[in-house]
Amino acid sequence: MDPLHTLLNLVIPPSGLSFLALVWPTLAFTNVFQWLLTTLFPEEVVRKVVLITGASSGIGEQIAYEYAKRGARLALVARRENLLQQVAHNAKKQGAADVRYIVADVSREEDCKRLVEETINYYGRLDHLVNNAGLTHSFLFEDASDAAGFFEVMNVTFWGALYPTYYALPHLRKTRGKILVNDSVAAWLPFPRMSVYNAAKAALLNLYDTLRVEIGTEIGITIAMPGWIESEMTKGKFATDEGDLTLQRDVHVGPFPVEYAEECAKAMVSGVLKGRRYVIVPFWYSVFLLYRLLAPELLEWSYRLLFVAKAPGSDTPPSKILLETTPAKEAFYPETIRKSE
Ligand SMILES: NC(=O)c1ccc[n+]([C@@H]2O[C@H](COP(=O)([O-])OP(=O)(O)OC[C@H]3O[C@@H](n4cnc5c(N)ncnc54)[C@H](OP(=O)(O)O)[C@@H]3O)[C@@H](O)[C@H]2O)c1
Ligand SMILES: *[C@@H]1O[C@H](CO)[C@@H](O)[C@H](O)[C@H]1NC(C)=O
Ligand SMILES: *[C@@H]1O[C@H](CO)[C@@H](O)[C@H](O)[C@H]1NC(C)=O
Repeated sequence: MDPLHTLLNLVIPPSGLSFLALVWPTLAFTNVFQWLLTTLFPEEVVRKVVLITGASSGIGEQIAYEYAKRGARLALVARRENLLQQVAHNAKKQGAADVRYIVADVSREEDCKRLVEETINYYGRLDHLVNNAGLTHSFLFEDASDAAGFFEVMNVTFWGALYPTYYALPHLRKTRGKILVNDSVAAWLPFPRMSVYNAAKAALLNLYDTLRVEIGTEIGITIAMPGWIESEMTKGKFATDEGDLTLQRDVHVGPFPVEYAEECAKAMVSGVLKGRRYVIVPFWYSVFLLYRLLAPELLEWSYRLLFVAKAPGSDTPPSKILLETTPAKEAFYPETIRKSE
């Protein structure tokens, strides 16, 4: 190895750690102070303009209601017009100052350009952009029948957040606005059978962390990372080659608790109004960040054992068998997702 880097390998790690030990207490102190301040005085969004993608169901729908309760003006985006109409109606009843809905497919660039333009034409400004639309899949990487399935997941989950962000940024700069991204704990937890979804979510994490550096404090960016949440996704809406959606869901989520969409949306909106960098919900997932860093092999082994391995004499992974042989579904799943449609 070149001698300069041999020297740096010896010098940088210990001096870097010493510097961190020196500055960390000061940083922690200012963070606690700022945390208190923003907790006491969160942003008010009365009449502010909030654009939400994926607002027709699940977390996005509940996010719309959280903003509605605070008197914001909403632009709701998804593909299914009948559902959007219903959400718009409910949001109005809950206190939204005004509601528009825009039928668009966020995986198409021209649709994303149009949905930002329509919002600006109607309201004249944009304060918050909520990137929420996402689609996961349910198959082992090697079992994909062709690569098009990967494109579909990437197009909705990654590009479906990137395009609206790109077109919204000039308007958000004018209002010193905010971006709320519905990322996922899958950005750093290697859930099997969802490899490309996990990759899309990891890409989002790095995209928005880098935008923070490029943009500075002018636009606040909150990256939310939900665990398993009640939604059409946890009801069984996975991109898959097979027909049985309940089976896919039972294998994926297994005997793990699923949080209510409403609770998740509350935590996300509260986080963005307080200017938090990250919101992990439910909070208990955050301990597994340390596992990812310090004991990745434990995550690998347990995920493989639970979700990929086949139970002896059967074709079913242990996650589904545990769900079927214990009262986990009754105890841990919100009622709306116990049966899939
Ligand atoms: N549920 C969980 O456990 C969980 C966990 C971690 C992260 N997340 C993330 O949360 C977000 C929301 O998902 P969800 O669980 O609430 O699922 P969901 O109920 O399936 O909601 C997805 C929303 O996105 C919209 N959408 C999908 N494809 C679209 C497209 N091409 N263009 C425009 N809108 C589109 C859907 O509406 P239309 O079909 O009407 O277009 C729907 O409103 C996703 O980013 C997901 O990755 C969910
Ligand atoms: C965030 O994404 C998850 C799926 O990854 C989805 O279930 C949830 O509804 C989304 N949140 C919002 C507000 O759309
Ligand atoms: C994904 O998006 C690209 C670019 O818009 C498009 O060419 C491709 O057909 C899309 N693929 C799928 C499966 O949606």
